[in-house]
Formats: sequence, structure tokens, C-alpha cells
Amino acid sequence: MQKLTGRRIVLTGASRGVGFETVKLFSAEGAEIIGVARDAAKLTALAAEYAGFQGFAGDITDKNLGAALAKAVAARWGACDLLINNAAVQQWNKGFHAEPLDLLEEHFRINVLAAHWLTHALLPMLLRGREPRIINVTSGAGTFSALQDPSMPAYRLTKFALNGMSILYAGDLKGKVAVNVMDPGWLKTDLGGPNAPGEPPDGAVRMLQVATLPFEASGKFWYGDTENAF
Ligand SMILES: NC(=O)c1ccc[n+]([C@@H]2O[C@H](COP(=O)([O-])OP(=O)(O)OC[C@H]3O[C@@H](n4cnc5c(N)ncnc54)[C@H](OP(=O)(O)O)[C@@H]3O)[C@@H](O)[C@H]2O)c1
Repeated sequence: MQKLTGRRIVLTGASRGVGFETVKLFSAEGAEIIGVARDAAKLTALAAEYAGFQGFAGDITDKNLGAALAKAVAARWGACDLLINNAAVQQWNKGFHAEPLDLLEEHFRINVLAAHWLTHALLPMLLRGREPRIINVTSGAGTFSALQDPSMPAYRLTKFALNGMSILYAGDLKGKVAVNVMDPGWLKTDLGGPNAPGEPPDGAVRMLQVATLPFEASGKFWYGDTENAF
């Protein structure tokens, strides 16, 4: 039996990596998806392959994107069951003091603020959804103890902040919208690089595990269906 039949899902970062694999797996599980990314050609190709997939080309750092996306969701479904804030960047591997000054701001806009803006814009649609949920895709690099490692400073700090923001939203929306963070694992994607031990489809499998958790699970950090410490 399909696990996501009729689930209405908005997913950012659908054009590559974990998001791309999530479109494939979730479509096979019966989900209907609106996928966001800047690469319109990749979204068009996905829509040609999966009948339930609709592309929405745009940059999530555009603060007006959420309103336009909410309009598209309202027109197609009138509700949303799951928002997955998956798109992110990791662009610096060296120390914090040497990092170009604008880089942290850019990482915050993509990795944290865009998820905040999209949550705001889509909340009315989520509140009309069935057992509505938000999954914010984090990283093992963003746990409290992982801050001891000085590599990837902007990325770590933004994932740490995303975790904190998700706890706040989980409290704020308790009983109405389940809000969790999930780590897809270190995977061979553009972001994860060629030395990663895992493959992109592994991340989609973990995403499915989190998307199908009991609705009561909220405010938690998941690696698949295993709970992690923040
Ligand atoms: N791969 C890993 O090892 C790993 C480990 C832990 C956590 N994660 C997390 O998993 C998630 C997915 O990562 P990934 O490895 O799949 O990354 P990826 O292969 O680099 O893909 C990133 C996705 O985000 C989209 N994106 C980036 N900037 C955007 C923007 N400004 N506006 C709209 N879309 C944007 C990209 O689409 P366009 O370029 O088409 O816009 C692309 O679809 C991220 O949250 C990442 O932090 C990954």
C-alpha cells in the first residue's frame, strides 16, 4: 500500500540531491507535490515524468516567493499537508575568521530565513491540511556538540539556528502543525560532495520515515525514524 496517497506536499530544493530523490520516492508513494527550485528546466523534466508533480521556479531568498507559492497551493489544493524546507547551501569549509563577511548573511537567508518566510506564507494552507506537518531539513553539523568543530562555520550556525527556530514553531503550533527537523545523512550530492558515504536516495528514505511519523511527534530531531539529540 502507498504511504502518502493524496498527501499535498510543498518541497523546496526539488531540482537536485535529496529533494530530487524525495520527489521520485514520494511520487511512487502517491504524494502530490509542488516542488520549488531555481532550475526551471529540471522542474519541467520532473513534471513530465510524474503526473502529481508541479514545478514552481523561484529563488527562496525572494521574500515575495511565499505569497506567490501560497496562491499556487490555494489554486491547486486549497490546503497543504506537508511543507518540507529542504533547500540549503554550504559554501565554506575553512575557519570562521577567514570567512567572507557576506557569506553568513547569505547562508542565513537561504538556510534559515527562507524557511521562516515560507512557514509564515503557507501556514493558512497548512492549518486547512490533514494532520499538517513541517519538516525542516537540518544536519548533524548543526547540533550543539558539533559546534566544537570549527569547519563549515556558517553552515553549522545556520543549521543550529534552524533547529532552534523549529523548536519555537513546534511550541507555537502545538496540536495544530507538527514541526520536526531531520538529518538526511552525509550523502553524495552537490552539497555533500563525492566523499560522502551515503547515496542521495538514502536521504529520501529517511525523509519518508519522518513524513510518516505519528502526528503527535513534534519538536524533535530525527535521523530517519531514530531520534537525535539537538
Ligand atoms: N548532502 C549531505 O551530505 C547533507 C548532509 C546533511 C544535511 N543535508 C541537508 O539536506 C538538504 C538537501 O541538501 P542536498 O545535499 O540535496 O543539496 P544539493 O544537492 O546542493 O541541492 C540543493 C537544492 O537546494 C536548491 N536551492 C539552493 N539555493 C536555493 C535558492 N536560493 N532558491 C531555491 N532553491 C535553492 C537547489 O536548487 P536550484 O539550484 O535549482 O535552485 C537544489 O535543489 C539541505 O538542507 C542540506 O543542508 C545534506
